[in-house]
Amino acid sequence: MALEAWFMQEDEEDQRLPHQKNPPEYVSMDHLAGLAVLYWKLDPNKYENDPALDRIRQERGYSFMDLLDLRPDKVENYDHKLKNFFTEHIHADEEIRYCLEGSGYFDVRDKSDKWIRVWIKPGDLIVLPAGIYHRFTLDIDNYIKLMRLFVGEPVWTPFNRPQDDHPARKKYVTNIIQDIVAPLEAYIKI
Ligand code: LAC
Ligand code: NI
Repeated sequence: MALEAWFMQEDEEDQRLPHQKNPPEYVSMDHLAGLAVLYWKLDPNKYENDPALDRIRQERGYSFMDLLDLRPDKVENYDHKLKNFFTEHIHADEEIRYCLEGSGYFDVRDKSDKWIRVWIKPGDLIVLPAGIYHRFTLDIDNYIKLMRLFVGEPVWTPFNRPQDDHPARKKYVTNIIQDIVAPLEAYIKI
């Protein structure tokens, strides 16, 4: 099972709507792998005791984890948080999210700076590489429960676009956007 992802119709409609083009233009896992986005499909019912998740965490050094429930009645400063999540940004580190319940959209920029919308559902573990421009929004169901993973002490700081001189951005552009270095490992099936 693969992720559902598509090129976005860019308009001013509600960010929680799918924003599919007409006709839809789907994006393959290979295309996402070419952007260094990693993906695993896991069993979300087993997240508290899952050898497959343990293996990923071990191999990639994801020592830190916490859980995030995003819904209007559960989160302080909900509107403010959601607005920040949806402001285009990068991080100095990977953004690693495992969807346990609900659903939402991670939007990432491709090599030609077009928005790709990735629909995250229970069982989807996605890794956005350091330096990729991205944003997040809930979908019209208004609920997602996410596991956040991190290597060591977490740093969630977003750096809003433009970030041309940020070291993580420069590295990402050199390695991925300019195709100078061999593509990173493709997505891994378990
Ligand atoms: C974020 C939320 C979704 O960091 O975890 O964008
Ligand atoms: Ni982010």
